[in-house]
Amino acid sequence: MNAAIAPSPFPKPGLRATEAHLSLLIVDDERAVREAARDAALILGYHASACDSAEQAARILDGQNVDVVLLDLKLPGSGGIEVLRQIKRKRPDIEVVVVTGHGTVESAVEVMKAGAYDYLTKPFSMEELKLLLERLVEHLKLKTENRMLREKIKSKEGFGNIIGRSPEMDKLYRIIAKAAHSAHPVLILGESGTGKEMVARAIHYAGPYRDKPFIPVDCGALVPTLIESELFGYVKGAFTGAMQSKAGLLSIAEGGTVFLDEVGELPVDLQAKVLRALQEKEIRPVGSTKTMPINVRVLAATNRDLEHAVVHGAFRRDLFFRLNVLTLRIPPLRERRQDIPLLAGHILERLMQSSGRQHELSDEAMRALLAYDWPGNVRELENCLERCCAMTSGPVIHTVDLPSSITGAPARFVSESIQSRVVPLADLEKQSILSAIAQLNGDKLMAARMLGIGKTTLYRKLKEYGAEI
Ligand SMILES: Nc1ncnc2c1ncn2[C@@H]1O[C@H](COP(=O)(O)OP(=O)(O)OP(=O)(O)O)[C@@H](O)[C@H]1O
Ligand SMILES: [Mg+2]
Repeated sequence: MNAAIAPSPFPKPGLRATEAHLSLLIVDDERAVREAARDAALILGYHASACDSAEQAARILDGQNVDVVLLDLKLPGSGGIEVLRQIKRKRPDIEVVVVTGHGTVESAVEVMKAGAYDYLTKPFSMEELKLLLERLVEHLKLKTENRMLREKIKSKEGFGNIIGRSPEMDKLYRIIAKAAHSAHPVLILGESGTGKEMVARAIHYAGPYRDKPFIPVDCGALVPTLIESELFGYVKGAFTGAMQSKAGLLSIAEGGTVFLDEVGELPVDLQAKVLRALQEKEIRPVGSTKTMPINVRVLAATNRDLEHAVVHGAFRRDLFFRLNVLTLRIPPLRERRQDIPLLAGHILERLMQSSGRQHELSDEAMRALLAYDWPGNVRELENCLERCCAMTSGPVIHTVDLPSSITGAPARFVSESIQSRVVPLADLEKQSILSAIAQLNGDKLMAARMLGIGKTTLYRKLKEYGAEI
């Protein structure tokens, strides 16, 4: 019998207000219990959903975000205790309240040992259930706070090296803490330079699989055929130059995280392949007839308006929903200006450690930084201060030392002869990259290594230059 009650009131993937209400899943084959429990949960502000079998529960747990399960021990089929063990094995962060039959003390002991949060004995009153759910709200709140605190202690400055104490960043830390302990995909949105990659790393390293690989893949930097073979791997002879088979990043990351950076740049045909890989949890290396299972968590980031891309057919709707189970939007710097002094302080401190020279900002210069809109966000702030430190001889950075784009001052006059003698760094970089590749007879991997840059950066640069890859 398929007795899932009513349409699921879970928020749709992607629309979920990440740290908002707790989600309760009621697994009981008695309709009256399901309905009463759901009513109690909704009153307490939980999102509630219900089903009547272990199989349905497993399906819901695979596709939805659930915080608490109310589980009937006397389920038909594999039975509640087995379901409890499975949940605790696969999703240890989910709290399970077990509903046991009257007077079965041994099973109550057994369920507590198997990791249940608590148990209710049938018949139970709504009041009992409400009290328990209320207690759980408190418990889960504390658990998240403790987890955040632990992470903060571990890295003094929050998650990883993420700096910021604004309310917006605090909210972000809470979502990161929650995302880190779930296995769902997360779509990280934010303008360029807001710290999307940093956040992706923080989610991975704050989670239970931090010892497993974290592998970023820059979907914007690679040509489509390369992304495919990078992600899925290839077999010997799959294409010219494939002298031996190579494992794909989705299988190398086994048990860990693959970070699909700039996912909005993924070509449409590859989007279909990535979607299939995520849905089926298996990949087929290029040139192979066999598929192989994968076990990775996927995080994705983009600075593009993906919903807009979906509407215009540039991004697959189904892949968008698949990646967007949890959304995390990093606010641009201009929306959290109060973090600017803190960030500037950390950047100057870091620069001091590498150059040995100490710099500080004059009050007026700091006011200019606070007033500026930072379209390139934290990265632009880093670049700006780095340049100021290199150009300023004294220990204090004054407003005149800041770029005119920031202070709004007219650019200082530079004579044409000086302009013609100064070679822009970007040109030097291009020359250096192209000459390294030419000298190494086209061996780009070796070139990247010798240039001291990652191969994705190299490919991105080549793409920017319009060079053949
Ligand atoms: N909150 C932060 N605290 C400290 N450093 C930060 C923060 N946010 C960003 N940064 C720094 O800014 C730079 C850009 O960060 P990151 O590469 O993660 O941004 P991004 O959003 O992925 O940028 P892009 O869209 O350009 O790829 C990095 O050097 C990172 O260290
Ligand atoms: Mg990035």
